[in-house]
Amino acid sequence: MKTIGITGHTGFFGQHIKWFFYGFRNDVKIIPIGREFFSEKYEKLPSVLKECETVIHLAGAHPANTKNAEEIYAINLDLARKLTGACDVAGATPYLIFASSIQAYRDNPYGKSKKDVGALFRAWGEKTGAYVTNLIIPNEFGENGRPFHTTVVATFSHQLIKGEPSTVNLDAVIPLIHTQDVARIMYNLIRDPKNEDIELPGTSMKVADLYDILRGFKENYFDRDIVPSFPTDLHYKLFNTFRSYLFDFDFYPRSIEIKSDERGSLFDLVKEKTGGQTFVSSTKPGKVRGNHYHTRKIERFCVIKGVAEIKLRKLLADDVRTFRVSGNQPTYIDMPTFFTHNIINIGNDELITAFWINELLDKNDSDAYPEEV
Ligand SMILES: NC(=O)c1ccc[n+]([C@@H]2O[C@H](COP(=O)([O-])OP(=O)(O)OC[C@H]3O[C@@H](n4cnc5c(N)ncnc54)[C@H](OP(=O)(O)O)[C@@H]3O)[C@@H](O)[C@H]2O)c1
Repeated sequence: MKTIGITGHTGFFGQHIKWFFYGFRNDVKIIPIGREFFSEKYEKLPSVLKECETVIHLAGAHPANTKNAEEIYAINLDLARKLTGACDVAGATPYLIFASSIQAYRDNPYGKSKKDVGALFRAWGEKTGAYVTNLIIPNEFGENGRPFHTTVVATFSHQLIKGEPSTVNLDAVIPLIHTQDVARIMYNLIRDPKNEDIELPGTSMKVADLYDILRGFKENYFDRDIVPSFPTDLHYKLFNTFRSYLFDFDFYPRSIEIKSDERGSLFDLVKEKTGGQTFVSSTKPGKVRGNHYHTRKIERFCVIKGVAEIKLRKLLADDVRTFRVSGNQPTYIDMPTFFTHNIINIGNDELITAFWINELLDKNDSDAYPEEV
């Protein structure tokens, strides 16, 4: 069992790292290090650090969370000095992984703070013998990132869904990386520490092209209920990020149009350009299916006969959202990634549910992690 302290664990990236490590909870124990350990509880920081084999340092000021750009440099240097100072008090030399940024190559207060904090950590590592990895990270995006905060993917998705205009810098090019990919790299580093700076490659893309991809998701999925194709893995990750905003817009459950004539009725279970597999289950009254979450797969639940409750809970959160659905008015819910979910037959008769998953089942990589709602 590896013990990993995470500063800045409450932020966008911290949330994703906690989700990633939750899938490996038998191997790793997370020790959250909140902002209070850098202020009113600072004297307790050394004893916390003593427990940590690795510290992932995410806590920091950046242009989206700090109004006065001039304060960013001082805040980030202060946090770094407090972290290494507390290690010294504890006599602790954890493996330190620092979330630096490609901005470290730029001449602005944020970039300069990343560069100088990296140098401070490197010098501390040389002095104490601790391993240090400054991870130079491109622009991260991922599910539930805050619009107008850390990533333009979140901002564009939010604006497209709300029908608001976006300011698109047509010529700018940004390198993108999904937060779960960075978390996986950190996990591998923890198992095989490296005493070096590592620049992570992103996928470079024109902002105008990124906007077009997200607009395509809006026009296909939001406007016409068509799951789009994913020509690259990046498209797949962008789509999961895009649809993470729909949940908060009460997009689900999504009514499906029923076409009726003298023979009876029919409806489209799924319209998709991406493949996958469809299956149907029957569930006895009172019985439950599911209780798992996915980190990438899109799974559709559609009740076609009977009455059910579909429950969802965001991983590591307490709130449970409950949707009552019935075969009398077919609706679908595409389970958001990182939400554990289940379906319960609350009727007196058999429940018939149709499911669609956008990937064929691979038993060695099922992307279904058991977790009670
Ligand atoms: N997102 C990206 O694209 C990206 C790319 C490269 C590097 N990074 C780096 O990754 C780290 C996390 O980024 P993020 O996107 O998760 O940002 P975020 O959502 O704004 O989260 C920032 C985290 O830092 C904590 N924090 C901020 N100021 C603090 C202070 N003065 N004392 C103690 N804690 C403080 C926050 O705590 P509270 O919740 O208590 O405010 C929060 O947990 C940052 O260092 C960022 O520079 C991010």
